[in-house]
Amino acid sequence: MDVAQRVTRIPPYPFREIAALKAKALQAGQDLIDFGIGDPDQPTPTHIIDAFAEEIRNPEWHRYDETGFGDRELRAAISRFAKRRFGIEVDPESEIQVAAGSKDSLALINWAFVDPGDVVLVPDPAYSVYRVNAIFCAGTPFPMPLLADNGFLPDLSAIPPTVAKAAKVMFLNYPNNPTGAVAEVDFFQEVACFAREYGIVVAHDAAYAQVAYDGYEPPSLLQVEGAKELSIEFHSFSKTYNMTGWRLGWSWGGAEIVGALSRLKSNVDNGVFLALQRAGVAGLTESQKCVADLCAMYQRRRNLLVDGLHSLGCSVAKPKATFYVWAPIPKGYDSEGFARALLVECGVLVVPGAVYGDHGEGYVRFALTIVADDAEARIVEAIERMRDNLELEW
Ligand SMILES: Cc1ncc(COP(=O)(O)O)c(C=O)c1O
Repeated sequence: MDVAQRVTRIPPYPFREIAALKAKALQAGQDLIDFGIGDPDQPTPTHIIDAFAEEIRNPEWHRYDETGFGDRELRAAISRFAKRRFGIEVDPESEIQVAAGSKDSLALINWAFVDPGDVVLVPDPAYSVYRVNAIFCAGTPFPMPLLADNGFLPDLSAIPPTVAKAAKVMFLNYPNNPTGAVAEVDFFQEVACFAREYGIVVAHDAAYAQVAYDGYEPPSLLQVEGAKELSIEFHSFSKTYNMTGWRLGWSWGGAEIVGALSRLKSNVDNGVFLALQRAGVAGLTESQKCVADLCAMYQRRRNLLVDGLHSLGCSVAKPKATFYVWAPIPKGYDSEGFARALLVECGVLVVPGAVYGDHGEGYVRFALTIVADDAEARIVEAIERMRDNLELEW
């Protein structure tokens, strides 16, 4: 049997060594403090669960969603959210597409715009979905390094014009996984000018737009005048409402781009379960206190972790958004080696930065989504274990 090249071309799963070490540690009964995967540890807010439980009884929602774009009521709620949160106008009829989480559309946008040989501009380090799906489409990913010196923003002037001319899609992700960096509207303005000059679709992953601290509100790319026509932005219920397992998100952007995505998507699946889409309406329209409380909780964890790392001598930045802390590694290690030492010597699980791309080397990522009865105490304990069991110098 010959598996298609698009499958064999997928790069090897980068977590495999750490995953194997984790499995071994758990098997040996080691007490692990797990900062690994970024998956909210808190339950979905009760009012969303209640709305779903009620809607699921409605037989109208037991059928196909035939709209191709998602439930009209949810799209209307998303459009109101766009106005309220970002001050932008998004037409619910033609500029919004409901999806099974943002990952769904992040993958399919490549299929909608990338032909074999086309260049896809991808950040490095980054969430792997952008690059892997570009490869699925026989596109050529071109890395845009995210460096500390540039605030982990890509330097657009470093992209050679020949590459820019061959590029069809540029992926961006702010607030950023894994670096925790944020982008402001003036950067998005620069991106929009670049994309207009070269005819590139900007695919902005804003899955963490609602997870922010100290009163900070991450902006939308669509706040830039005229950016909507050349962009698509991906949003998600996953991190905002602790709903990673439910699979609900949406994209918004120019009607032509959203239309192309919808045309493709309606040939791949039949939309998200309508009762779940109605639960999404409850999520967006009822009180947002649950989101504020969640951010306050992560903010306390962030402060404990960053202050603790500072006390060890690591000058790590306090992220303004996302639940990730991107920590430079101490002398004498590479990122994989440091992650291994933390796991084996301290029972602390982090992700080596190199997993996210060549420019992730030199860092490890801590996720603040720790599953524990007292996550704050576990963070303090992790720092103490590092102090007691390793000689660390930065
Ligand atoms: C940057 C980024 N985008 C998208 C996703 C996927 O989110 P969703 O659950 O909405 O598919 C993740 C998940 O971790 C992520 O880190």
